[in-house]
Amino acid sequence: MVAFPTMEAFFPTLISLLLLFSSIACFNTTFADSQAATIAFKFVESSFGHESPTIIPQQHSRDVKIPNPCLRNAYTAIQALKKAIHSDPKNFTGNWVGSDVCSYNGIFCAAVDDNSSHEVVASVDLNSAELEGFLPDELGLLADIAVFHANSNRFHGSVPDSLAGLKRVVEFDVSNNRLAGGFPKAALQMPALRYLDLRFNGFDGPLPPELFDKGLDALFLNNNRFHSDLPENFGNLTASVAVLANNYLAGCIPKSIGKMRHLNELVLTNNRLDGCLPAETGMLSYLTVFDVGFNLLSGFLPESLAGLRNLEELHVSHNLLIGAVPKGVCKLPKLANFTFSHNYFNEDSRECARRKEGRSYLILRATAFRRRCNREQQRRVLRLQIGRSTARSSSVGTHRAVSLCRHRSM
Ligand SMILES: *[C@@H]1O[C@H](CO)[C@@H](O)[C@H](O)[C@H]1NC(C)=O
Ligand SMILES: *[C@@H]1O[C@H](CO)[C@@H](O)[C@H](O)[C@H]1NC(C)=O
Ligand SMILES: *[C@@H]1O[C@H](CO)[C@@H](O)[C@H](O)[C@H]1NC(C)=O
Ligand SMILES: *[C@@H]1O[C@H](CO)[C@@H](O)[C@H](O)[C@H]1NC(C)=O
Ligand SMILES: *[C@@H]1O[C@H](CO)[C@@H](O)[C@H](O)[C@H]1NC(C)=O
Repeated sequence: MVAFPTMEAFFPTLISLLLLFSSIACFNTTFADSQAATIAFKFVESSFGHESPTIIPQQHSRDVKIPNPCLRNAYTAIQALKKAIHSDPKNFTGNWVGSDVCSYNGIFCAAVDDNSSHEVVASVDLNSAELEGFLPDELGLLADIAVFHANSNRFHGSVPDSLAGLKRVVEFDVSNNRLAGGFPKAALQMPALRYLDLRFNGFDGPLPPELFDKGLDALFLNNNRFHSDLPENFGNLTASVAVLANNYLAGCIPKSIGKMRHLNELVLTNNRLDGCLPAETGMLSYLTVFDVGFNLLSGFLPESLAGLRNLEELHVSHNLLIGAVPKGVCKLPKLANFTFSHNYFNEDSRECARRKEGRSYLILRATAFRRRCNREQQRRVLRLQIGRSTARSSSVGTHRAVSLCRHRSM
């Protein structure tokens, strides 16, 4: 099996993440004070009902003794979140009371400028808390957090636009929830974002081209209902891992793919991609996993794939490819798992399978040259194979070897 990269491959430890905080007192450009006040006001209004005549913004949080404005905003945000949670079987939010936000479950603070009396909320980790509810607008007040992890819960609704206020968030993971709506626009506006994980939700609609210009290190969108072409600037993605499997993405794979020089793993399986596989794919010299199985790709497998010297896994099965499997591909030095069945490859391609066997490579399903069976049937089978709770991410505070995944979820 291919060793999947861990979180550490993408990011430094939490310690260095937190060093980010050392130079800035309180991130202060996020919400203009008036915006923060509006949000806090809304919160107060909804907390106390409409009969309260005049409410001074943030009055509720001034009543409890909170050492600085950043923590006061965080208090507002987290109390709003608590209110938006209607099922908490593990009593995860049970201690979300009182002014000491930093002592709440799942809320982690860090000192700014080595000044222990100036703390801010630096990360939020709600992973696997089994919370059911929605993500309130007020979460946008968490302007200092570097990490927002809420995977494997039952959050529903959409990702509020106000989360664009997470100006310092590096990792945003809401995978394995019941979130829906279009691609979350807020994510496009988080300037520091490097790790975006939306997999296993009900997001739909098109993928915005801006996503691919964001300088991400890792992108997980699999198991949603995104449907659009891959935009022309697809190749601007700087990520080393991109998993877009199990959506309804259509159209060709853009030639710009050749620009994805940092790419280690690209998984596009089970979409509706058609057209040819661009020859430019052969330029991805760091690529170790390339999976475009279960699509509608046609034409030849490009000879240039023989240039993928680091390739360990290659999956092109269940497409409409023709011609022969290029000999150079069969000879790739590190290739250990290559599936190309259920295409229209000619008989010569059997040679590739035999040669691999001779060299004691694992070669798989290469003999199935038969006509493709009903596509819908295949999809159903595939769906059955896809478990749900596979989404994992690091836990804040340790950032230890988290299998970023079985991202391919199959
Ligand atoms: C090869 O890849 C296929 C498809 O991802 C997977 O089902 C199979 O288990 C892999 N085989 C090995 C030996 O890793
Ligand atoms: C935010 O910036 C304003 C000026 O733009 C300043 O008056 C205020 O004190 C700052 N707030 C914090 C918490 O640093
Ligand atoms: C939930 O946790 C809080 C604080 O830890 C505790 O006071 C409360 O009794 C707990 N509630 C239940 C139902 O266990
Ligand atoms: C530390 O932070 C507190 C609270 O924000 C502030 O009042 C104090 O002046 C700071 N001390 C130093 C040495 O910067
Ligand atoms: C992204 O790609 C497009 C078209 O491929 C290009 O015009 C644009 O300059 C690129 N943007 C960045 C930030 O690289």
